[in-house]
Amino acid sequence: MQDFRGKTAFITGGASGIGLGMARAFGREGMNVVIADIDLEAGRAAAQALATEQIKAQAVRIDVADRAAVREAALEAIAAFGKIHLVCNNAGVATGGPLGTVSERDWDWIVDVNLKGVVYGVETFVPLIQSHGEGGHIVNTASIAGLVSGAGAEPYSATKYAVVAMSEGWAQQLAPMNIGLSVLCPGYVRTRIADSARARQDRYGGVQPVRGDSFAAAGSNVAESVAAGIDPDIVGARVVEAVRDGNLYIFTDPRFRDVVEFRFAAIRAGFDQAAASPALKSVKAWAPLTYPPPETPQ
Ligand SMILES: NC(=O)c1ccc[n+]([C@@H]2O[C@H](COP(=O)([O-])OP(=O)(O)OC[C@H]3O[C@@H](n4cnc5c(N)ncnc54)[C@H](O)[C@@H]3O)[C@@H](O)[C@H]2O)c1
Repeated sequence: MQDFRGKTAFITGGASGIGLGMARAFGREGMNVVIADIDLEAGRAAAQALATEQIKAQAVRIDVADRAAVREAALEAIAAFGKIHLVCNNAGVATGGPLGTVSERDWDWIVDVNLKGVVYGVETFVPLIQSHGEGGHIVNTASIAGLVSGAGAEPYSATKYAVVAMSEGWAQQLAPMNIGLSVLCPGYVRTRIADSARARQDRYGGVQPVRGDSFAAAGSNVAESVAAGIDPDIVGARVVEAVRDGNLYIFTDPRFRDVVEFRFAAIRAGFDQAAASPALKSVKAWAPLTYPPPETPQ
């Protein structure tokens, strides 16, 4: 997507942090912005703040974990601005902890918001973008935790790996429809993610007291790293340039390249072990693999 001016962006979790950073960045490019958030008051305050920069912004309430609510918010956005061209499936929460301490409701909450929320966003908006025929772009917020996982962060990483995996497949399916797709994998960004239980729905146990370490890996303090992270407005600017360039993977912290390479090295070692495996020696002829698939964006 090259041309942003006069088009409309729909951003979930747009009231705070990375979502607000993207809203501001795309607004500065001349887009109308829909701030879709579970916290409508915060969404309205964000829309007002954007209006002081002459950005046309409207807040709508959404719970991304509720498919019907996503559809309703989409229709409200279309009633306000006509057509939606850019969708940022960005709302997300964090929880985790030592093995055996993550409750069933914690798992349900994080899977429903971080994973199914992205499914609902893509499944709701793709037909709506197709219907206006002007093309568009989808940005799914995963995390660098969608490529490397740490002890204590299993629920978070499980959902973020899923967002990366789904995005890699959808990018191939959407390319022939003139809809681009990027998956945002930020490193640490200075946001309120460590306090994400402030928006926890009643069906998952309701709002929880703020626990800065609520998704800390054993022995590390993620909340401190988040507090020392980069400014969300820088992430917004990075997303604008990557969407314009049609990039599939959007990274914000080049230092994590080495961490990802470390994981790849362990995976390569696993393949070396398979290549030397006596058990696999009995396979006489492997059928050739067709790879990469034809519609693979870079
Ligand atoms: N902050 C980081 O270091 C970091 C790093 C990598 C990825 N991320 C991801 O970035 C995304 C945005 O998080 P953030 O860091 O800006 O945190 P944040 O808490 O500042 O913002 C998240 C926003 O999502 C909203 N939200 C929460 N649950 C919702 C729901 N069910 N429906 C709709 N809105 C909901 C919140 O009200 C809030 O406005 C998340 O997906 C997060 O996992 C954050």
